[in-house]
Amino acid sequence: MNDSAPLQVESLAKSFPSGPDWRKVVPILRKRPRKVKVRPIDNVSFEIKRGEIYGIIGANGSGKSTLVRVLSTLLLPDDGSARIFGFDVVKEPGKVRPAINRVSADPSFFRSMSAIENLTFFGRVYGLKTSGIKSRSYEILERLMLTREQARDPMQNLSRGQQQKVAVARAFLTSPVLMLLDEPTTGLDPRSRREVQSFIQTVRRDHDATILLTTHDMQEADLLCDRIAVFSEGRIVAEGTPDYLRAMVAGDRPPEDVDMEEVYLELTGRSIEEDEETHD
Ligand SMILES: Nc1ncnc2c1ncn2[C@@H]1O[C@H](COP(=O)(O)OP(=O)(O)OP(=O)(O)O)[C@@H](O)[C@H]1O
Ligand SMILES: [Mg+2]
Repeated sequence: MNDSAPLQVESLAKSFPSGPDWRKVVPILRKRPRKVKVRPIDNVSFEIKRGEIYGIIGANGSGKSTLVRVLSTLLLPDDGSARIFGFDVVKEPGKVRPAINRVSADPSFFRSMSAIENLTFFGRVYGLKTSGIKSRSYEILERLMLTREQARDPMQNLSRGQQQKVAVARAFLTSPVLMLLDEPTTGLDPRSRREVQSFIQTVRRDHDATILLTTHDMQEADLLCDRIAVFSEGRIVAEGTPDYLRAMVAGDRPPEDVDMEEVYLELTGRSIEEDEETHD
């Protein structure tokens, strides 16, 4: 990879039109621009350094997954830019895709095929050799505590958490450069969550991977992330190391007395109040 930053996001914006599109059925409405109601990403800028784990925390609907989808070239932004190792996600998607791996919050698989068959298929799509894929898949799944029997069962017979493990394994099949992990541990039991977390740390350490991680688990954000961005209504309302964010809300207390849950509640709560003031 080149020397550019793994991820540079500048004034990025994405909105979705609201409600049904009546212009399709009522010709006279076609001349009017469609109403924009939902603005999941609203002027977002940040940069991730090489080898960094950068967390994004924020309420349901605050725009985290939309951001990950834009960065993965699955959605086009309306404004601003995002560059992955210097490549523009809109203009150079072909160069961006090989540099990223993604775990989505709602992974899709061939449900009647087993985990191993799915991983073999996706591994081939990623350009890997079949012989290497199987052993690597079993190795990762074993680390994530999915047994060989479960790995050979049709995916539809697996629980949601077990399927999530297969999604994590899929993202780590290839040598990751920039990982986009959208809630990789949601739905996992505490032990499996720990396994995935330690796996993420190992990959960062051994492969010098750069990781963008969204999570609702504040302990996870605290444990894994070098820096965290707090999202609220599509905007970053605070950004910094976990200690920096703790100090922001600590007041007269020593920052180490503040836990990340409080940081989250305070920072997202405050931003909502500020939003209400600015809208009045
Ligand atoms: N394809 C779409 N069409 C219209 N609106 C959408 C679409 N995708 C997302 N939205 C809206 O954008 C907003 C942000 O959604 P997004 O999925 O990015 O949130 P999130 O932060 O990932 O939430 P969660 O924590 O629940 O995963 C929501 O209001 C959602 O309704
Ligand atoms: Mg989401």
